[in-house]
Amino acid sequence: DDDGAGDDENEIVAGTAPGFEPFEMVIDGELVGFDIDLLEAVVDETEYELADWQEIEFDGLIPSLENENIDVIAAAMTITEDRQETIAFSDPYYSADQTVLVQEGGDVQPDELEDLEGHNVGAQSGTTGEGIVEDELIAEGLIDDGDYDSYDNYVLAVEELERGTLDAIVIDEPVAESFAADRDVEIAFTFETGEEYGFGVRQEDDDLQQALSEGIEAVQESSEYDEITQEWFDE
Ligand code: ARG
Repeated sequence: DDDGAGDDENEIVAGTAPGFEPFEMVIDGELVGFDIDLLEAVVDETEYELADWQEIEFDGLIPSLENENIDVIAAAMTITEDRQETIAFSDPYYSADQTVLVQEGGDVQPDELEDLEGHNVGAQSGTTGEGIVEDELIAEGLIDDGDYDSYDNYVLAVEELERGTLDAIVIDEPVAESFAADRDVEIAFTFETGEEYGFGVRQEDDDLQQALSEGIEAVQESSEYDEITQEWFDE
Protein backbone atom coordinates (compact mmCIF):
# COMPACT_ATOMS: atom_id res chain seq x y z
CA ASP A 1 0.00 0.00 0.00
CA ASP A 2 2.99 2.34 0.09
CA ASP A 3 2.40 3.85 -3.35
CA GLY A 4 -1.19 4.67 -2.51
CA ALA A 5 -2.59 2.97 -5.60
CA GLY A 6 -3.96 0.10 -3.58
CA ASP A 7 -5.75 2.52 -1.30
CA ASP A 8 -7.73 4.01 -4.15
CA GLU A 9 -8.87 0.60 -5.31
CA ASN A 10 -10.16 -0.04 -1.84
CA GLU A 11 -12.12 3.18 -1.68
CA ILE A 12 -15.84 2.67 -1.93
CA VAL A 13 -18.75 5.09 -2.30
CA ALA A 14 -22.02 4.35 -0.54
CA GLY A 15 -25.50 5.33 -1.70
CA THR A 16 -28.60 5.80 0.42
CA ALA A 17 -32.12 7.24 0.18
CA PRO A 18 -32.80 9.51 3.18
CA GLY A 19 -36.30 10.17 4.48
CA PHE A 20 -36.47 6.67 5.95
CA GLU A 21 -36.03 7.31 9.65
CA PRO A 22 -34.29 6.09 11.76
CA PHE A 23 -32.27 4.26 9.08
CA GLU A 24 -31.29 7.28 6.99
CA MET A 25 -32.32 10.90 7.24
CA VAL A 26 -30.92 14.39 6.93
CA ILE A 27 -30.89 16.38 10.17
CA ASP A 28 -29.51 19.93 10.11
CA GLY A 29 -28.05 19.25 6.68
CA GLU A 30 -26.25 16.14 7.89
CA LEU A 31 -26.86 12.60 6.69
CA VAL A 32 -27.37 10.43 9.79
CA GLY A 33 -29.04 7.22 10.92
CA PHE A 34 -28.70 3.56 11.77
CA ASP A 35 -27.53 2.50 8.29
CA ILE A 36 -24.98 5.30 8.17
CA ASP A 37 -23.40 4.33 11.51
CA LEU A 38 -23.67 0.62 10.80
CA LEU A 39 -22.05 0.72 7.37
CA GLU A 40 -19.25 2.92 8.71
CA ALA A 41 -18.61 0.49 11.59
CA VAL A 42 -18.76 -2.49 9.21
CA VAL A 43 -16.38 -0.97 6.65
CA ASP A 44 -13.96 -0.16 9.52
CA GLU A 45 -13.67 -3.93 10.03
CA THR A 46 -12.53 -4.43 6.42
CA GLU A 47 -9.66 -3.40 4.19
CA TYR A 48 -12.00 -0.97 2.39
CA GLU A 49 -12.34 2.77 2.98
CA LEU A 50 -15.67 4.55 2.84
CA ALA A 51 -14.81 7.61 0.75
CA ASP A 52 -18.22 9.23 0.27
CA TRP A 53 -22.00 9.01 0.72
CA GLN A 54 -24.39 9.85 -2.12
CA GLU A 55 -28.06 10.64 -1.58
CA ILE A 56 -30.19 9.08 -4.29
CA GLU A 57 -33.91 8.38 -4.66
CA PHE A 58 -34.69 4.83 -3.63
CA ASP A 59 -35.62 3.59 -7.09
CA GLY A 60 -32.39 5.07 -8.47
CA LEU A 61 -30.09 3.13 -6.12
CA ILE A 62 -29.81 -0.11 -8.09
CA PRO A 63 -29.21 1.71 -11.42
CA SER A 64 -26.54 3.86 -9.68
CA LEU A 65 -24.85 0.74 -8.38
CA GLU A 66 -24.92 -0.89 -11.81
CA ASN A 67 -23.44 2.14 -13.57
CA GLU A 68 -20.77 2.44 -10.86
CA ASN A 69 -21.75 5.81 -9.45
CA ILE A 70 -21.80 4.02 -6.10
CA ASP A 71 -20.30 0.74 -4.89
CA VAL A 72 -22.60 -0.18 -2.03
CA ILE A 73 -26.25 0.46 -1.15
CA ALA A 74 -27.08 1.06 2.51
CA ALA A 75 -30.76 1.95 2.40
CA ALA A 76 -32.75 -0.48 4.55
CA MET A 77 -33.02 -2.45 1.32
CA THR A 78 -34.79 -5.78 1.66
CA ILE A 79 -33.01 -8.79 0.19
CA THR A 80 -35.43 -10.08 -2.47
CA GLU A 81 -35.14 -12.65 -5.24
CA ASP A 82 -36.13 -10.00 -7.80
CA ARG A 83 -33.30 -7.72 -6.76
CA GLN A 84 -30.88 -10.65 -6.65
CA GLU A 85 -31.38 -11.03 -10.38
CA THR A 86 -29.41 -7.81 -10.87
CA ILE A 87 -27.39 -7.21 -7.69
CA ALA A 88 -25.92 -9.15 -4.76
CA PHE A 89 -26.40 -8.58 -1.03
CA SER A 90 -24.32 -8.92 2.10
CA ASP A 91 -25.63 -11.16 4.84
CA PRO A 92 -28.71 -9.63 6.50
CA TYR A 93 -28.25 -7.01 9.20
CA TYR A 94 -31.85 -6.17 10.24
CA SER A 95 -35.32 -7.78 10.11
CA ALA A 96 -38.61 -5.97 9.50
CA ASP A 97 -42.28 -6.46 8.65
CA GLN A 98 -44.70 -4.14 6.85
CA THR A 99 -47.37 -1.92 8.37
CA VAL A 100 -50.26 0.19 7.23
CA LEU A 101 -50.00 3.77 8.41
CA VAL A 102 -53.05 6.08 8.54
CA GLN A 103 -53.94 9.59 9.70
CA GLU A 104 -54.02 9.78 13.51
CA GLY A 105 -57.64 9.60 14.63
CA GLY A 106 -58.74 9.68 10.99
CA ASP A 107 -61.78 8.09 9.34
CA VAL A 108 -59.91 5.26 7.68
CA GLN A 109 -58.99 2.66 10.34
CA PRO A 110 -58.32 -0.66 8.58
CA ASP A 111 -57.58 -3.87 10.51
CA GLU A 112 -56.38 -5.87 7.54
CA LEU A 113 -55.45 -5.35 3.86
CA GLU A 114 -58.98 -6.19 2.68
CA ASP A 115 -60.27 -3.15 4.58
CA LEU A 116 -58.30 -0.91 2.19
CA GLU A 117 -60.79 -1.75 -0.57
CA GLY A 118 -61.59 1.35 -2.62
CA HIS A 119 -59.19 3.58 -0.68
CA ASN A 120 -56.27 5.71 -1.83
CA VAL A 121 -53.04 4.01 -0.91
CA GLY A 122 -49.47 5.26 -1.18
CA ALA A 123 -45.96 3.80 -1.04
CA GLN A 124 -42.45 4.77 -2.05
CA SER A 125 -41.53 3.96 -5.62
CA GLY A 126 -39.52 0.76 -5.99
CA THR A 127 -40.05 -0.51 -2.45
CA THR A 128 -41.40 -3.79 -1.14
CA GLY A 129 -44.30 -1.72 0.24
CA GLU A 130 -45.15 -0.81 -3.35
CA GLY A 131 -44.89 -4.51 -4.21
CA ILE A 132 -47.54 -5.29 -1.57
CA VAL A 133 -49.86 -2.65 -3.06
CA GLU A 134 -49.39 -4.11 -6.53
CA ASP A 135 -49.67 -7.79 -5.58
CA GLU A 136 -52.13 -7.77 -2.70
CA LEU A 137 -54.33 -4.76 -3.47
CA ILE A 138 -54.32 -3.97 -7.20
CA ALA A 139 -53.86 -7.54 -8.49
CA GLU A 140 -56.54 -8.75 -6.06
CA GLY A 141 -58.97 -6.15 -7.39
CA LEU A 142 -59.29 -4.36 -4.02
CA ILE A 143 -58.12 -1.02 -5.43
CA ASP A 144 -57.69 0.34 -8.97
CA ASP A 145 -54.39 1.40 -10.49
CA GLY A 146 -55.57 4.99 -10.12
CA ASP A 147 -56.06 4.56 -6.36
CA TYR A 148 -52.36 3.93 -5.93
CA ASP A 149 -50.01 6.90 -5.49
CA SER A 150 -46.32 6.24 -5.86
CA TYR A 151 -43.99 8.68 -4.05
CA ASP A 152 -40.27 9.37 -4.54
CA ASN A 153 -40.01 9.64 -0.77
CA TYR A 154 -42.11 8.33 2.13
CA VAL A 155 -41.95 11.74 3.85
CA LEU A 156 -44.10 13.19 1.06
CA ALA A 157 -46.61 10.37 1.49
CA VAL A 158 -46.75 10.93 5.27
CA GLU A 159 -47.48 14.62 4.68
CA GLU A 160 -50.42 13.65 2.45
CA LEU A 161 -51.73 11.35 5.19
CA GLU A 162 -51.54 14.19 7.71
CA ARG A 163 -53.46 16.43 5.32
CA GLY A 164 -56.02 13.68 4.75
CA THR A 165 -55.45 13.62 0.98
CA LEU A 166 -54.20 10.03 1.17
CA ASP A 167 -55.93 7.23 3.13
CA ALA A 168 -53.11 4.81 3.92
CA ILE A 169 -49.45 4.00 3.33
CA VAL A 170 -47.75 0.62 3.20
CA ILE A 171 -44.33 0.98 4.83
CA ASP A 172 -41.69 -0.91 6.84
CA GLU A 173 -42.68 -1.21 10.50
CA PRO A 174 -39.66 0.39 12.20
CA VAL A 175 -40.02 3.45 9.97
CA ALA A 176 -43.78 3.60 10.56
CA GLU A 177 -43.09 3.63 14.30
CA SER A 178 -40.72 6.51 13.93
CA PHE A 179 -43.19 8.55 11.83
CA ALA A 180 -46.00 7.70 14.28
CA ALA A 181 -43.90 9.06 17.16
CA ASP A 182 -43.17 12.39 15.44
CA ARG A 183 -46.18 13.12 13.25
CA ASP A 184 -49.98 13.01 13.13
CA VAL A 185 -50.09 9.46 11.82
CA GLU A 186 -50.62 6.08 13.48
CA ILE A 187 -50.06 2.41 12.73
CA ALA A 188 -53.36 0.73 11.80
CA PHE A 189 -51.92 -2.79 11.69
CA THR A 190 -48.73 -4.72 11.03
CA PHE A 191 -48.42 -7.79 8.85
CA GLU A 192 -45.58 -10.24 8.78
CA THR A 193 -43.36 -10.24 5.71
CA GLY A 194 -40.16 -11.41 7.38
CA GLU A 195 -38.03 -9.02 5.34
CA GLU A 196 -34.31 -8.80 5.93
CA TYR A 197 -32.16 -5.83 5.03
CA GLY A 198 -28.77 -6.28 3.40
CA PHE A 199 -26.11 -4.02 1.89
CA GLY A 200 -26.32 -4.18 -1.92
CA VAL A 201 -23.25 -4.62 -4.12
CA ARG A 202 -22.57 -5.41 -7.78
CA GLN A 203 -22.74 -9.14 -8.50
CA GLU A 204 -19.12 -9.23 -9.62
CA ASP A 205 -17.85 -7.62 -6.40
CA ASP A 206 -17.56 -10.89 -4.47
CA ASP A 207 -14.68 -9.63 -2.34
CA LEU A 208 -16.64 -6.59 -1.17
CA GLN A 209 -19.74 -8.71 -0.57
CA GLN A 210 -17.77 -11.13 1.58
CA ALA A 211 -15.91 -8.39 3.44
CA LEU A 212 -19.20 -6.67 4.30
CA SER A 213 -20.74 -9.92 5.56
CA GLU A 214 -17.70 -10.59 7.74
CA GLY A 215 -17.76 -6.99 8.92
CA ILE A 216 -21.43 -7.29 9.92
CA GLU A 217 -20.63 -10.43 11.90
CA ALA A 218 -17.72 -8.70 13.66
CA VAL A 219 -19.83 -5.65 14.52
CA GLN A 220 -22.67 -7.86 15.79
CA GLU A 221 -20.27 -9.86 17.95
CA SER A 222 -18.75 -6.74 19.49
CA SER A 223 -20.80 -4.28 21.53
CA GLU A 224 -21.02 -1.92 18.54
CA TYR A 225 -24.18 -3.31 16.96
CA ASP A 226 -26.10 -2.92 20.23
CA GLU A 227 -24.70 0.56 20.74
CA ILE A 228 -25.80 1.66 17.27
CA THR A 229 -29.22 0.04 17.79
CA GLN A 230 -29.63 1.80 21.12
CA GLU A 231 -28.68 5.11 19.60
CA TRP A 232 -31.35 4.96 16.87
CA PHE A 233 -34.16 2.85 18.36
CA ASP A 234 -35.83 3.08 21.77
CA GLU A 235 -34.75 -0.42 22.68
N1 ARG B 1 -37.28 -2.21 2.91
C1 ARG B 1 -38.02 -1.66 1.83
C2 ARG B 1 -37.47 -2.14 0.51
O1 ARG B 1 -36.41 -2.65 0.46
C3 ARG B 1 -38.04 -0.14 1.84
C4 ARG B 1 -36.71 0.51 1.83
C5 ARG B 1 -36.77 2.02 1.63
N2 ARG B 1 -35.51 2.60 1.94
C6 ARG B 1 -35.23 3.91 1.91
N3 ARG B 1 -34.05 4.28 2.27
N4 ARG B 1 -36.10 4.80 1.48
O2 ARG B 1 -38.07 -2.00 -0.52
